[in-house]
Amino acid sequence: MHSTFPSKLPEIGSSIFSQMSQLASEQQAINLSQGFPDFGCNPYLVQQLAAYSQQGLNQYAPMAGVLPLRQQIAALIARCYRQTVCPEQQITVTSGATEALFCAIQALVRPGDEVIVFDPAYDSYAPAVQLAGGTAVHLALTAPDFNVDWQQVADSINCNTRLIIVNSPHNPSSQIFTADDWQELQRLVCQHGLYCLSDEVYEHMVFDERPQLSALCFPELAARSLVVSSFGKTFHVTGWKLGYCVAPAALMAEFRKVHQYVTFSSFTPAQFAVAAMLEQHPEQVSGLAAFYQQKRDCFVAALAASRFQLLPSQGTYFQLADYSAISDQPDVEFCRWLTIEHKVAAIPLSVFYRQPPAQRLIRFCFAKEEYTLQQATEVLCRL
Ligand SMILES: Cc1ncc(COP(=O)(O)O)c(C=O)c1O
Repeated sequence: MHSTFPSKLPEIGSSIFSQMSQLASEQQAINLSQGFPDFGCNPYLVQQLAAYSQQGLNQYAPMAGVLPLRQQIAALIARCYRQTVCPEQQITVTSGATEALFCAIQALVRPGDEVIVFDPAYDSYAPAVQLAGGTAVHLALTAPDFNVDWQQVADSINCNTRLIIVNSPHNPSSQIFTADDWQELQRLVCQHGLYCLSDEVYEHMVFDERPQLSALCFPELAARSLVVSSFGKTFHVTGWKLGYCVAPAALMAEFRKVHQYVTFSSFTPAQFAVAAMLEQHPEQVSGLAAFYQQKRDCFVAALAASRFQLLPSQGTYFQLADYSAISDQPDVEFCRWLTIEHKVAAIPLSVFYRQPPAQRLIRFCFAKEEYTLQQATEVLCRL
């Protein structure tokens, strides 16, 4: 395409996740960059997928998702957060959390609106805001705690502010909102008549006995929130791209107006398979935190002998590491060097910021087999 084409997203190239995964594969490096497991899912899930497809459930699903899945999502929310949501009016199944985030932003954000985004931020938020004609207002969180300064948030709110996007447990920092954070968010959202888009795709990966909280646990916040989650993360099937959005009925009606013209509906047999999985194997979800905590602990223990300084990982399947004792290269170069020269791929943290602070941090994904982690940590300990 001609380079003078007036792009709607002039600053956007291919995502760092695709770039690093491609480099990892070219270099035959161990890929701890992009966030996906290198192990399989529960065989029951795949059997169910095949069974539903063989039964002939291969045509369009209802626009909002198949009812058995929406009922199981409502039951999951009741188990995890003791909240009641209506499967018919408050839940929509989407093609991954990414689609849900996009539809939520298109439904809420109008030209001229401002949207508060906390950097480091997942890369899909700001472009979706831009496509809706809004402006992302980036507030930077910094290591080691990545705490939100709620006074700074309050100071950033003006008459154009429409939406605050939050993500807890947080990719890439692995930090988790405390009850106080949620209360502060609730206070600001209600006081200023804003909306909240709560990206909770890592909701079931909360470590060290911390309480698992959601925007849904705070009723006045929930009344103004769209909450997004992903079965790709929860069931180790990121390639299925199956997620969902939960919102009060009036907001959900607006969300569905967009969703029906983006994908209309998501892959039918996978919806039935996930519904069966949630019903028959609730322990897959309730045991997920312990499963990943054990991986985190092995990874952290193995890196204790390295020159990386590890930051606390409270949840998700990511671990941040400070490499300043190893190199003074900027993080993008350090990650390329690590992949090409040492065959381990990671993600530089600066790419998650609009204006990266001066820090030497990279993100590893530990959703990997023990053997993969062992191979990688042996290399990392030699640096
Ligand atoms: C914070 C965050 N939100 C959303 C997504 C997208 O989830 P999905 O693969 O279900 O679209 C990811 C995936 O990495 C993520 O890390």
